[in-house]
Amino acid sequence: MYGCEKILYNNTQSTLFGEKTTEQEYLGLVSKQYTFSEAISVLDEVDWDFKDFATQYLTHRFHSYPARFIPQIPLTFIKLFTDEGDTVLDPFCGCGTTIVESFLNNRNSIGNDFNPLATLISKVKTTLVDETEFRYLNRKLSVMKRYLDLDYKRVEDRAEHLPNRKISKIFNKVIISKLEAIRETLLEVKEEGHDDLYDLGRTALSSTIWALVENGNGVNVDDLFLRKVKSMRERLNETAKVVKNIPDVKTINGDSRKLEVETDSIDLIVTSPPYVNALDYYRAHMYNMLWLGMDFDLFRKHEIGGHSHFIANRFRLLSEYLGDMLRSMMEMNRVLTKDKICVIVVGNSSLEYELIESHRFFAEMAGRIGFKPIKTIHRNIDKTKKYTSADVGKIDDEYILVMQKTEDAEVTADDDNFISEIVTEQMTDFSEQIKKVQGTSIRGRMPTKERLLKNIDRISDAIETIPQDIKIKV
Ligand SMILES: C[S@@+](CC[C@H](N)C(=O)[O-])C[C@H]1O[C@@H](n2cnc3c(N)ncnc32)[C@H](O)[C@@H]1O
Repeated sequence: MYGCEKILYNNTQSTLFGEKTTEQEYLGLVSKQYTFSEAISVLDEVDWDFKDFATQYLTHRFHSYPARFIPQIPLTFIKLFTDEGDTVLDPFCGCGTTIVESFLNNRNSIGNDFNPLATLISKVKTTLVDETEFRYLNRKLSVMKRYLDLDYKRVEDRAEHLPNRKISKIFNKVIISKLEAIRETLLEVKEEGHDDLYDLGRTALSSTIWALVENGNGVNVDDLFLRKVKSMRERLNETAKVVKNIPDVKTINGDSRKLEVETDSIDLIVTSPPYVNALDYYRAHMYNMLWLGMDFDLFRKHEIGGHSHFIANRFRLLSEYLGDMLRSMMEMNRVLTKDKICVIVVGNSSLEYELIESHRFFAEMAGRIGFKPIKTIHRNIDKTKKYTSADVGKIDDEYILVMQKTEDAEVTADDDNFISEIVTEQMTDFSEQIKKVQGTSIRGRMPTKERLLKNIDRISDAIETIPQDIKIKV
């Protein structure tokens, strides 16, 4: 069993009298053979808080990523609801947690994300690289280290194109020059035909830039980059010992609302979509993407849950989000084989002091598009662990919505009239709730009563503009 050494190694609970650790007990529970209905009841026996469990083993640690979920969530469903050789999909794969767990457990997988950085990281985490390749890379990097040029020749042009001037101060001349030297070395690696190493190097570079943005000046760029590469090499080597028959992994840089995945081809979906009004992923990744030559404006335009628009009426973000998620769920229904399981993990959000319980909206949608909601599991997020970046705000619990595909949806995800109809019903129900009680999500400062009452009018206005707000931007 992979990770066993890791699990014992990380064990904080004594096993003096031969008692099993919580991690061993958990693995024992989910690794048995069950019928479908037994597997469903095992879900009630799992302690979903996974307190003190190791979550950063093997390649999971390659790159920080905001709002990732812990590996034990996809692992549980992979173990309980798939067999070796089956195919698992995550349409919002982020940094690839579901994909890595599928890989480690000999399941084929498809990871889709609109953020090209997300699919790059997911690919690198599941691509084993030969030791001879690493020896070649080391030679290239030692040459680079010797000649790390600081003549600032590329600095001016770079500095001009950095997005936010305040943060650009972190990127002083020395740092820019070093980052550029690393980038050029990686380009040589690509030109010399070592594509997997090029991707691995870009992931290490991106992770280095992330550390710079998070920690500011004082990071020794080239040392940090070289350390990252070294640690990635070690972790891939450890992974190679665990994965005997390498399963297929496909990463797609695409839109969850129009999946480039074959109909009825998937055996399990485990995913965590973006939240409404919680985090602009493009903002979090602007610098990394810029350095890697990725188009963050395109991503910004199509990312679900972004909130840099509809400033005058934030409830329009909710109808847009519900439309986007309904389309995505219809696509999940299309690609999933009948009777198989689809799992969506999502927390609550807040809009204008009103609580948005996304999982309830999703469960309600499910019944309209060929899914049967089976159960909703509530779990606490370990607050001592940093899953999210500062701008996500505090998210201390989340819901795991488990659904089964019982039939094909009668309409397709591009049917604007259907989307508009369902979102209008959902927004109207939401408006009825808000008429009864406002301010269900007040944290901290109290707004005035007038301000809260305005939410009722705002939601009515947002309902008027649903047909235009749910359209996919072109
Ligand atoms: C909560 S994160 C997923 C994190 C993932 N579970 C992990 O462990 O890393 C949501 C993801 O949705 C992606 N996303 C946003 N809009 C999208 C779209 N239209 N199509 C596909 N992915 C999208 C974001 O880039 C982000 O990676």
